[in-house]
Amino acid sequence: MTAKRSVVLGCGSYLPQKVLTNAELAARIDTSDEWIVQRTGIRERHIAAEGEFTSDLALHAARAALDHAGLDAQAIDLIVLATSTPDNTFPATAVAVQNGLGINHGAAFDLQAVCSGFVFALATADNFLRAGAYKRALVIGAETFSRILDWNDRGTCVLFGDGAGAVVLEAQDQPGKPSDRGVLTTHLRSDGRHKAKLFVDGGPSTTQTVGHLRMEGREVFKHAVGMITDVIVDAFNATGTTAEDIDWFIPHQANKRIIDASAHKLHIAPQKVVLTVDQHGNTSAASIPLALAVAVKDGRVKKGDLVLFEAMGGGFTWGSALVRW
Ligand code: UT7
Repeated sequence: MTAKRSVVLGCGSYLPQKVLTNAELAARIDTSDEWIVQRTGIRERHIAAEGEFTSDLALHAARAALDHAGLDAQAIDLIVLATSTPDNTFPATAVAVQNGLGINHGAAFDLQAVCSGFVFALATADNFLRAGAYKRALVIGAETFSRILDWNDRGTCVLFGDGAGAVVLEAQDQPGKPSDRGVLTTHLRSDGRHKAKLFVDGGPSTTQTVGHLRMEGREVFKHAVGMITDVIVDAFNATGTTAEDIDWFIPHQANKRIIDASAHKLHIAPQKVVLTVDQHGNTSAASIPLALAVAVKDGRVKKGDLVLFEAMGGGFTWGSALVRW
């Protein structure tokens, strides 16, 4: 029996030109390259230029993904854009991207699940495609976290960066076997009891300001590995796969220690882990597609490979997705 699957046709990414190093941060606030590298693995991050918005980053990434897929923008009928740093409160940043691509059919909307945003967006688009509602989707993660950081708070401002990544999905009939290409399973979770551990202290309905990111880092860290590994085990169980079967583990890039500990707990070999946190910092919803684009471009991820995505972030929200490339 055949199964409809959301097959990845291409991916792309974009990083703003300006690079901010740990040394530059240490010249501004009470921190050091040594502390940041030891605690997080981050060495540098990219920062959007003045006048460069989340939609600009997203549009670059979307065009790169369409080029990689060899597809004209008119073939897209769904855009799901994950961001916590939209251009404006409304309309959705996704419609700015849609307009930039010259598309005026289908649907485009934003989705907000903070650092888990890309996995939530991928799952959402996958469900729409498999239901037959749309044919081809752009799934984008795009962020300008530099705009919501408190640059005097050394506990958070050293961690985040700006960027965008995108994938193109197409609904295709596959044989309905574990060897199918496309999104094989997705698992999403949320637990609002933790909402005050990582949040932005402003918003249209509360302060009428944008606000700044606040985080109890140690508390987030404490929960991260358990939540991440639980939801990956769900993906393994749903598909009858094991850590051995995974070709590439592309986690949300928040902290190298969290990534290493999660891979270790799941017995995923270190050489299968794609790491970009050193170069990009934590780019929230953009981090997975940014890392994916690097691993596809350098030839690591090849057709037929089994790729595991995972993310955890504010809310808390967390999720996993297993995709055959
Ligand atoms: O993507 C969304 C999910 N977010 C995450 O996954 C982040 C999870 N949390 C983390 O990655 C880590 O908790 C951090 C990297 C944020 C912090 O690392 P930590 O090992 O948990 O450090 P800590 O917060 O326990 O702080 C240890 C010390 C403190 O000093 P005292 O109180 O021991 O004297 C901090 O004040 O490090 C100090 N500290 C810093 N020192 C130099 C905090 N930030 C800095 C800094 N530079 N930038």
